[in-house]
Amino acid sequence: MSLIDANNSLDIFYNLIKDKKCNKYSNNLKVGVDLGTANIVLSVVDEFNNPVAGASYPASVVKDGLVVDYIGAVEIVRKLKAEVEDILGTQITYGSTAIPPGTLSGNVKAIGNVLEAADIEVVSIVDEPTAAAAILEIQDGAVVDVGGGTTGVSILKDRKVLYTADEPTGGTHMSLVLAGNYKISFEEAEELKKNAEKEKENFLLVRPVVEKMAHIVKRHLQGYPVEKIYVVGGACSFSEFEEVFQKVIGIETIKPKRPLLVTPLGIAASCIK
Ligand SMILES: Nc1ncnc2c1ncn2[C@@H]1O[C@H](COP(=O)(O)OP(=O)(O)OP(=O)(O)O)[C@@H](O)[C@H]1O
Ligand SMILES: [Mg+2]
Repeated sequence: MSLIDANNSLDIFYNLIKDKKCNKYSNNLKVGVDLGTANIVLSVVDEFNNPVAGASYPASVVKDGLVVDYIGAVEIVRKLKAEVEDILGTQITYGSTAIPPGTLSGNVKAIGNVLEAADIEVVSIVDEPTAAAAILEIQDGAVVDVGGGTTGVSILKDRKVLYTADEPTGGTHMSLVLAGNYKISFEEAEELKKNAEKEKENFLLVRPVVEKMAHIVKRHLQGYPVEKIYVVGGACSFSEFEEVFQKVIGIETIKPKRPLLVTPLGIAASCIK
């Protein structure tokens, strides 16, 4: 799959979620559950990683790979599972999930338990940036996943992960900057940040956060022969995001379409028994 194919898949997946519809499928479905800090997404792809169906729910039950509200997390996964089963007309019995790089083993277990408690047998638990790389079919380069709470960095060479790191900056910090500037609540700032009509003004304020992130990423890449950076995750949605990265780091930076959905779709693609 090329980047063009991946962009195509991401658009299709976005529309399937929006329209609550499914694409034709055979029996070999692959399922992924992304327990993110800001969003929980259940994704289904076929054996060729073509999107089949999905559902998403905004949540704050998991923080950077740490389950902070176990009951809440299980409830949401159950709800998403029922929703997608309804769309598919078939039952979901297994699936994969993912963790930010460097998650401690106890927390990995808790993430797996959320799926099991929602009656989803855990096929595998993968690294988030590795999942993203699977859907983008990246052989060499760096994947930077800028989520709600954290930024994950993965460096790949010949499809193998050479290095991973996780930094505690993400979309939350952008919202905090907006909240402070306009003296509004965090929730209001989250809404304002995603308002497409306010993007230009918002990005002026958020830009220093992005520059700081880029400097941190640059440090992680030092000593590795990275020629391309792929940015994914909801917080890189700003149209000028990749430009700032490229300027600060000096390495070509590519943003796929629907960056919010890259890791969720990649988790389903990584669901290999
Ligand atoms: N259009 C947008 N413009 C700017 N930021 C956005 C937009 N849409 C979503 N975000 C931000 O993206 C973040 C969520 O991204 P994502 O769903 O990738 O994170 P997550 O997987 O839940 O979190 P993490 O990976 O850190 O656990 C939130 O901070 C959200 O406010
Ligand atoms: Mg994420």
